[in-house]
Parts: sequence; structure tokens; C-alpha cells
Amino acid sequence: MKPLGRQPLSMPLGEALAKRRSIRSFLPRPLTNDELGALLWAAQGITDSTLGLRVTPSSGAAYPNTIYAFTAEGVFRYDPAAHALEKLADDDRRPLVAAACHGQRFIATAPLVAAIAGEHKPITPDFDDRSTLYMILEAGHAAQNFLLAAAALNLGAVPIGAFSDETLTQNLGLGGAQTPMYILCAGAIG
Ligand SMILES: Cc1cc2nc3c(=O)[nH]c(=O)nc-3n(C[C@H](O)[C@H](O)[C@H](O)COP(=O)(O)O)c2cc1C
Repeated sequence: MKPLGRQPLSMPLGEALAKRRSIRSFLPRPLTNDELGALLWAAQGITDSTLGLRVTPSSGAAYPNTIYAFTAEGVFRYDPAAHALEKLADDDRRPLVAAACHGQRFIATAPLVAAIAGEHKPITPDFDDRSTLYMILEAGHAAQNFLLAAAALNLGAVPIGAFSDETLTQNLGLGGAQTPMYILCAGAIG
């Protein structure tokens, strides 16, 4: 496990909301451990360690989604409880992600390529038919937090929805039961 830091998010919310813009061109430097930690914490971090509640809401507090981080260093899974990265692969798979995103080339070199994937988890029989929808809604909560955190840290970021989920699932080692829903790229800007 690689422990993460967390750069403070001190920009006023209104400023971050007004500043957020999709940015697809990044400086080549990797994100710092504190920047990476702040982005992943904003997306899925723990805010109540007693109850295990996270920064984003979740229907029935089921938290069906997992965030994977693709960097030049390899592939990682974000562990919210430990606020750490579990390494899953040593190779740089960002070019594979870019290919799965119909050749959106900037993804191959974006310092951070995060993928939100979800596992369909029926909460109760009553909720069953809506749990896939909830998983997608929750990915949206996480993604917007990530994008606002990037704006607050003066980083560039963009959400990516155009990809082949089959290619991502097969080639990138995402858990077989998981559906990739959203990709978020981030990096430093000039
Ligand atoms: C669901 C969704 C999917 C998107 N997919 C892509 C994408 O595949 N590639 C891309 O470059 N931008 C993508 N975007 C970003 C939009 O192009 C962008 O939000 C839009 O042009 C408005 O610009 P703004 O984000 O700077 O306000 C996506 C945005 C959303 C909400």
C-alpha cells in the first residue's frame, strides 16, 4: 500500500465552481502525492471514520464504486479507509485507456487517469431495480467533487465518457464484476 497525503482544499467553493473548466493539455510533471491524495479523497475519501461514511453520498451507504488510478507508475486501486493506493500493475496502461477512449490521445500522457467503476449491489429487494442507476448517480457525485478539487488546486481536469467499457474491462484488469462508468484525467497546467 502506498499512503497518500492530502493537499488542503482552501479555495472558496464559489470560486472553484466558477473556475472549473474541461482542460485536456497538461504539463508532463507527475502529480505530487498530496495533489493525488486530495483528488482521490474528494472523490471517495472517508469523512466519518466511525461509520465509514464518505465525502460523497451513497444510497444506503452501500458505496458500490471503486476508483482506479492509471499513472506512468502503473495501475492502482484507491482504498478510502486507508487513504492509500494498492498497486495492481507495474506497467503504464494509459495508452491502453486512450485507445479504449476511441483514441483520445491526450489521455495517454495525462499525469493522472482515474476510472470510476461500479459493482451492481442490490441494497434490498425494494431497491433492486434502481441500484444500477444509483451506481451511476454516485459516479457523478464523485466525478464532480474530483473536478472541483482539481479547480481548487489549480490543476487541469476533464471528465471522459466516450469509451468502450468492454475494452477497458478486458484489458485493464478491472474487477470482472465491475462496470467502468467515467474517466477523469488531471494534471498540472502552465
Ligand atoms: C458525461 C460526459 C462525458 C464527456 N466525455 C468527454 C470525452 O469523452 N472527451 C472529452 O474530451 N470531454 C468529454 N466531456 C467534457 C465535455 O466536452 C465538456 O464538459 C463540455 O465541452 C463543456 O465544457 P466545460 O466542461 O469546460 O464546461 C464529457 C462531459 C460529460 C459531462
